[in-house]
Amino acid sequence: MSETTLVAPAPPNHPPNARPPGPKGHPIYGVLWEFHADPVAFQERIVGTYGDIARFRFFHLPVYLLANPDDIRTVLADPEGAFVKGMALDGFRPLVGKGLLLNEGDSHRRQRRMMQPAFHRQRVAGYGEVMLEEAQRVSAKWAAAVASGRAQVDMDTEMNRLTLTIAARTLFGAGITDTEASDVAEAMSAFTQWYHQSTHPMGALLQALPTEATRSFKAAKKKLGAVVDRMIKARREGGDTGDILSMLVFARDAEGDGTPGTIGGGMSNEHVHDEAITLLVAGHETTGATLAWAWALLARHPEVATRLRAELDAVLGDRAPTVEDAPKLDYARNVFAEALRLYPSATALPRQAVKPVVLGGYTVPKGAIVMCAAWACHHDPRFWDDPQAFRPERWTAEGKATRPKFAFFPFGGGARVCIGEAFAWMEGTLLLATLARQWSASVAPGHTVVPEALFTVRPKGGLPMVLAPRV
Ligand code: HEM
Repeated sequence: MSETTLVAPAPPNHPPNARPPGPKGHPIYGVLWEFHADPVAFQERIVGTYGDIARFRFFHLPVYLLANPDDIRTVLADPEGAFVKGMALDGFRPLVGKGLLLNEGDSHRRQRRMMQPAFHRQRVAGYGEVMLEEAQRVSAKWAAAVASGRAQVDMDTEMNRLTLTIAARTLFGAGITDTEASDVAEAMSAFTQWYHQSTHPMGALLQALPTEATRSFKAAKKKLGAVVDRMIKARREGGDTGDILSMLVFARDAEGDGTPGTIGGGMSNEHVHDEAITLLVAGHETTGATLAWAWALLARHPEVATRLRAELDAVLGDRAPTVEDAPKLDYARNVFAEALRLYPSATALPRQAVKPVVLGGYTVPKGAIVMCAAWACHHDPRFWDDPQAFRPERWTAEGKATRPKFAFFPFGGGARVCIGEAFAWMEGTLLLATLARQWSASVAPGHTVVPEALFTVRPKGGLPMVLAPRV
């Protein structure tokens, strides 16, 4: 079956000034409040009511929500150069500066080219050793806690700490002190709080006020910045230590970027600084949240947990996994894929149009925001049989071939696709394999698991789980 046969044929083009249907919202702020209160419920309601393309306003700004994989491909693959991140992700800017996530145009292309070698498959295999070591450390910590009668953990926090430690170790190598590591952790938690405030309808105002979240954001940014700057200085003076930061510091590109401080054709200290913070921010909470969801889903579906353990037993016997095992752990990878489908970290991917573009037969004007509705596509019955069901079995080659490519895009697509995608698949597979081989976990009695979309989609109020060693 062709990639697009499951999608309704494109509607006829409407006159240039025709608008897709959508909610009117409040006369002044449009639907921004409803969106901010619960972005997932909002997306479900709008796509459920208006279909593949809907239009609404955030204050004066027109926003188009897209739930058709063909339109999403047009936006993310962007063959005509019609989209930028623009103001669509402004909330991130004070955090990641000129880092890859928000950089645009030639500067983005150049930075991406220089950073790509750090994410080649071979390098990622090397990071796999760090992933395995840290997973074993968590397992040992759980064993000690259970032995002393403390079998309950917050799995969301556990997985986020684990992925943050891995992000910090692969970025900074062994050179990070314990105090610096806890400064990094503190900064990340302050960033999450602050980010949520920044997406508030009154975000710009709140950011200008000395609120608690803004104060701790600024303090955390300063502390983290000092850690990063110390590390950059150490690499410039002491040479390559084999970590990702060294690759950023010593990356070379014939073009040069003309920024003061650029050495040879490499990155300025400012660029390295922003890329390092971007990698910490983008590279841990996403994987951490997906792993937390995988645990919650395994707890609710014991038959899947049994199949996962059968694969682990068959591939590993009674030894711990190695990096070489990763390609053989298909079911573990599919559990991770299914968690990404049901709970995509980025529930919608926004862009801003820099010229008029036809989407869904309507002309989207220059300046409008478009949002690619990942949550809706990942749960759309047109592409997924029994879409709410947690079914790792659906990830067969045949299953993949019958779905449109952009029915599943947890890592985005096109030139801006996640640079850490291979890292995340390796991490998800190896951490699940290491921990699920030794542990099972059930949701704490009386707790109901509910998703909440903040920076990523995480279990609201955490994920209390009771650990049990596998016998
Ligand atoms: C399950 C884990 C992850 C998910 C779901 C995820 C998701 C995404 C998505 C959706 C984008 C594209 C955003 C857009 O187009 O607007 C993105 C970009 C990015 N991600 Fe990831 N990510 C994950 C893991 C990682 C890791 C492990 C790293 C780094 C080690 C990373 C670093 C980045 C960077 C730097 C970008 C910007 C790329 C660019 O614009 O060129 N991500 N990620």
